[in-house]
Amino acid sequence: MDWGFTNRMSKLIKADGHCFYLAMDHGYFLGPTHCLEDVGKTLAPLAQYADAVFVPRGSLRYSVPPTLEIPVILRVSGGQSIASEDLTNEDVTISIDDIIRLNASAVGYSVYLGSPNEHQTLMGLYDLINMCRPYDIPVMAVTAVGRELDQKQQTRFLSLACRVAAEAGADVVKTYYCQDFEKVVEGCPVPVVIAGGPKTDSQLEVFKFVYDGMQRGAAGVNLGRNIWQDEYPAGVAAALRAVIHEEATPEDAYDLYQSMKSNAK
Ligand code: 5RP
Repeated sequence: MDWGFTNRMSKLIKADGHCFYLAMDHGYFLGPTHCLEDVGKTLAPLAQYADAVFVPRGSLRYSVPPTLEIPVILRVSGGQSIASEDLTNEDVTISIDDIIRLNASAVGYSVYLGSPNEHQTLMGLYDLINMCRPYDIPVMAVTAVGRELDQKQQTRFLSLACRVAAEAGADVVKTYYCQDFEKVVEGCPVPVVIAGGPKTDSQLEVFKFVYDGMQRGAAGVNLGRNIWQDEYPAGVAAALRAVIHEEATPEDAYDLYQSMKSNAK
């Protein structure tokens, strides 16, 4: 790998091997998501805790100040919306010129294994990697379960999806936390990052699954709603940073979150 690739990766995966990505890409198919109406405003107090932000080019260009100090992972898959029947009908949405123009440190792209669009989205991943590799721009593949599976099937499915994405040449793979998460990590030759999901009832729940995922070999997280839909997002972000980079337990993280929240009142 050349200097540019190593330099970008060193910002995306820190010296401890861990990473904290703030996911703010939801608008590309959900539209004006609660608390992401103005991405730049929501990001401002949180950026100091994250290693990178995951964002589509519209929000980046029109809402995020270019003085942003953390790296950008650009969401570069799309082609459907919540109004359509098939959320898996995606492809590459950007040119390499625009990726470079926006100074993206990496790009993120979804593959939908087991869906009718498996082939299309995988071929898109190959094309994207072929497009980015000459410029040393890392690619994060996003994998999801598109159908109902029991816990064991889910572990097997996510292991398959992560390995297939890594074999395509993805440099980081984002997937969901599942039972026996270490099996997913063991089967994947590149760093695995845990995605979030809908807002949970308690923040302790989030700190627990992130902590457990890290113990089982995750490199870090790509989390959104459980951070910025909380009543005190900066507290959640600081607490997650402590779990990811400072070996805080879920209980330590919860204490930090609570104390930041009460000091802010
Ligand atoms: C949405 C995504 C998000 O980046 C990912 O799901 C993480 O966000 P959240 O924690 O809100 O689920 O890929 O398309």
